Amino acid sequence: MALRLIVKEGEPLLEKPSRPVEKFDEKLWQLLDDMSETMYAAQGVGLAAPQVGVLRRICVIDVGDGLMELINPVITKTAGQQESAEGCLSSPGKYGITHRPKKVTVEYFDRHGNKKTAKGEDLLAKAFCHEIDHLDGILFKTHVIRWEK
Ligand code: NI
Repeated sequence: MALRLIVKEGEPLLEKPSRPVEKFDEKLWQLLDDMSETMYAAQGVGLAAPQVGVLRRICVIDVGDGLMELINPVITKTAGQQESAEGCLSSPGKYGITHRPKKVTVEYFDRHGNKKTAKGEDLLAKAFCHEIDHLDGILFKTHVIRWEK
């Protein structure tokens, strides 16, 4: 495993859409291992592949309940709304209040290509939305209704 450099806001790559993963091979597993190591080292709760310079639809999340690896994730259902502070490892020290759904259902593939469904509430719902946005080149600043001082 290896730490990867986290791409910072301002880099055009972060605002480009990512392509789906097609091969569930050792190269993917290496990337996933590196992404989780990089996320934990940076004390983040989520990291998307574009943030390590790879335009593929992959993200890792751990809000304290264990590591999730999501490949080609799609939000299939949302409910409710939450208003809370949000940040991003690509925007160190910047936090803003956003509106996100309170409950989010995602469909995705695991590292072996098995289709899965997961439901998240509160922080996990926010992480699903934030990380999947990254795969479409959308940064959390577009959702901020006011910046934290
Ligand atoms: Ni982010």
